Amino acid sequence: MAQFNYDESKVPAYKLPPLLQLNDGSPVKDAATWKKKRRDEVLELFRSEVYGRRPGRPEALRFEVTRKDEPALGGKASRREVRVHFTAAENGPAMNMLLYLPAKDRGPVPTFLGLNFRGNPTISKDPGITLRKGDKESDRGGSAGRWQADMIVGRGYALATIWYGDIEPDDKRNAFSRGIHKVYGPADKIPADGWGSIAAWGWGLSRALDYFETIDEIDHKRVAVIGHSRLGKTSLWAGAEDERFALVISNDSGCGGAALSRRAFGETVKRINTSFPHWFCDNFNKYNGRESDLPVDQHMLIALMAPRPVYVASAAKDRWADPRGEYLSAKNADPVYRLLGTEGLPADRMPPIDKPSMGRIGYHIRSGGHDVTAFDWKAYLDFADKHLKTP
Ligand code: GCU
Repeated sequence: MAQFNYDESKVPAYKLPPLLQLNDGSPVKDAATWKKKRRDEVLELFRSEVYGRRPGRPEALRFEVTRKDEPALGGKASRREVRVHFTAAENGPAMNMLLYLPAKDRGPVPTFLGLNFRGNPTISKDPGITLRKGDKESDRGGSAGRWQADMIVGRGYALATIWYGDIEPDDKRNAFSRGIHKVYGPADKIPADGWGSIAAWGWGLSRALDYFETIDEIDHKRVAVIGHSRLGKTSLWAGAEDERFALVISNDSGCGGAALSRRAFGETVKRINTSFPHWFCDNFNKYNGRESDLPVDQHMLIALMAPRPVYVASAAKDRWADPRGEYLSAKNADPVYRLLGTEGLPADRMPPIDKPSMGRIGYHIRSGGHDVTAFDWKAYLDFADKHLKTP
């Protein structure tokens, strides 16, 4: 089997594992059985076979405001920087969070939280964001289009972001010996169901939420977790592991994220495990070229968010991430949302390009390529208004 495929006619015939059936074969007919039994079973399967098990909140976790609130974004926001220390050590592992609070809205406000790829200074041209060692003035705002900070605070939301490399370097050779993993044990002692880097990054997002629980400006019960691409895989897994996240957004997350593995369209399980062996747990390798042996598929990951609102977004030219497979995951999670008494995904077919479909599950396929754009953000804000702003 090739390691990737762009030909729809070569998508193998497949049958998705049943969502509404317990491991012992009995049907899940009511919300209570989903909540008390089936959800745990599905979560366990993803832990042991896909992402790996992660630790809980560290006892020594603490928060240090490293830069007090100052006006930013032309007065539309106030900026704060916070270091989240994972251990008691003064110079030990920590992540640096950048936080924009909307100036005109009195808290507690709903918030978007997401990891960034290239460092906090890249998310806005704001000259007040602290540069890290090695950062250049010219790095400022390099990824601003992907964050749309002005639009977000203008609509009454806070925005919080952290460079994902603070939690763990995205490095297939040294990730586990240099990142948060090493706090929990030696890199060569990680079991086959031990956490990979996606689980580690998601764990960091939960630590950001721990901070929100300690402050009044943010409503920690209205936090939307968002991520793009590998960080979209991360936001989904973070939302599955931590039900405190009120809303979950996957932007172009593809293989190991929102896309159905069994379609093996675009990137495949074998390909992703080969290129990025540190992202998932070792057990995931069992399914290289054998997607149909997986006890789960990614529609079950989307269903783990239920009944919380979840949004899956694709881009038309992003065939590597399999837009159709992303849509089908969202659609196949719909029965769980309905069982829990909420609307699922209204679109019975893949919606036309640039026409979002928004129920309790949202989906769109945007024109253009693998990216996060103003169009995507506008949809996420509309979706958040619908679900987080109504009393
Ligand atoms: C690679 C990888 C994808 C991933 C993407 C990204 O293309 O194959 O799985 O989503 O990087 O994170 O940008």
